[in-house]
Amino acid sequence: MSLLGKRVLLIIGGGIAAYKCLDLIRRLRERGAAVRCVMTQASREFITPLSAGALSADHVFTDLFDRQDEHDVGHIRLSREADLVVVAPATADLMAKLATGLANDLASTVLLATDKPVLMAPAMNPKMWAHPATLRNRETLSRDGIRLIGPNSGEMAEGGEAGEGRMAEPLEIVAAIEGMLADGPRPLAGRKIVVTSGSTHEAIDPVRYIANRSSGRQGHAIAAALAKLGAAVHLVSGPVSIADPQGVKTVHVESARQMHEAVEALLPADAGIFVAAVADWRPQAETAKKIKKQKGKDAPALALTENPDILAAVGHHEKRPRLVIGFAAETENVVENARAKLAKKGADIIVANDVSHDSGIGSSGVMGGERNRVHLVSGEDVEEWPEMTKEDVAERLAVVVANMLGGERKD
Ligand SMILES: Cc1cc2nc3c(=O)[nH]c(=O)nc-3n(C[C@H](O)[C@H](O)[C@H](O)COP(=O)(O)O)c2cc1C
Repeated sequence: MSLLGKRVLLIIGGGIAAYKCLDLIRRLRERGAAVRCVMTQASREFITPLSAGALSADHVFTDLFDRQDEHDVGHIRLSREADLVVVAPATADLMAKLATGLANDLASTVLLATDKPVLMAPAMNPKMWAHPATLRNRETLSRDGIRLIGPNSGEMAEGGEAGEGRMAEPLEIVAAIEGMLADGPRPLAGRKIVVTSGSTHEAIDPVRYIANRSSGRQGHAIAAALAKLGAAVHLVSGPVSIADPQGVKTVHVESARQMHEAVEALLPADAGIFVAAVADWRPQAETAKKIKKQKGKDAPALALTENPDILAAVGHHEKRPRLVIGFAAETENVVENARAKLAKKGADIIVANDVSHDSGIGSSGVMGGERNRVHLVSGEDVEEWPEMTKEDVAERLAVVVANMLGGERKD
């Protein structure tokens, strides 16, 4: 595949495998990509900016506080003027920095400032790779949407040790880059889609609220998958602890009423996909001051009132999107309850998932977990999908949406 016209920002970390990234630069340039390098201070102990610069035919950036570099390009522009950011070798240190959000040198600052996809090719001693701290960082990075390639197993360059930790070979990294930069089909180009995700917080007083276990992972993954197919996606997200998906316009809200307002403001749209676990009820009155515990007094009674039903409101709206899909979290009679919801909410499809603890999905269950098993209920049809990751559910659902909305919009 050609990478003609694509711009890769290559961050070179301080590991022995740094020598391999010189070959990587060459391979990328052979395919037509423009490569610009950022080198960490440690990486300069292994290879020189002169070699990286000669192969990339561009200036090599090394110092966050270099006045000339900052003046010419600046770290923010550097992080944005690329189609993809690649870290190779990704040291344990660089992974830890990005996982915790540190930005104390040019490489880590660029990684935090970028709005582009990031691919990391880790390389380190097998003990470092298997360390619980690195394991935690790997999980955090994956959850934040950072793609990892490798490492492979084998002899370490230092000799005497073998195991998982060798950096992926340059051609393997090139293949991953090609996959990430591939101009895939965009059947949803020109479509506007509104997606809701996460839980909602319903205030009891200024410090307490009612919430639920929704992590936002499924909704965020759906927003990202629709964007990948070319849709203009507007995500209305309740409070979550995951990153905004790339290529999506995200509005952050707290309560069900705010989410409702934000969704209304985004209509008209071609499709609405309501994944958020919106609180059915909120405290009748939010007190302006923190409710005090008073000795000898009973616990305060919490009177609840119903929240707006966003799915039903949009399903029966005068600006109803052509396609309305709702998610239903059920703990019993999953399909029967979903079918009843179809008409009541005015939805075309209800995606029903069993969130009961005995649904058999992982220890963390569906809500907050990484996997999902759903039924697509529409009219009389029930499509049962096998258990898969939330990303896979998202990609399959995006294809269903593309098929239902049909070919590219003409107007
Ligand atoms: C000879 C040598 C080889 C090293 N190889 C690696 C390596 O492969 N992976 C790694 O994560 N750290 C390696 N280190 C440690 C890093 O260089 C060190 O953690 C450094 O602070 C990383 O800085 P950076 O992440 O800014 O490049 C190595 C150190 C030395 C002295």
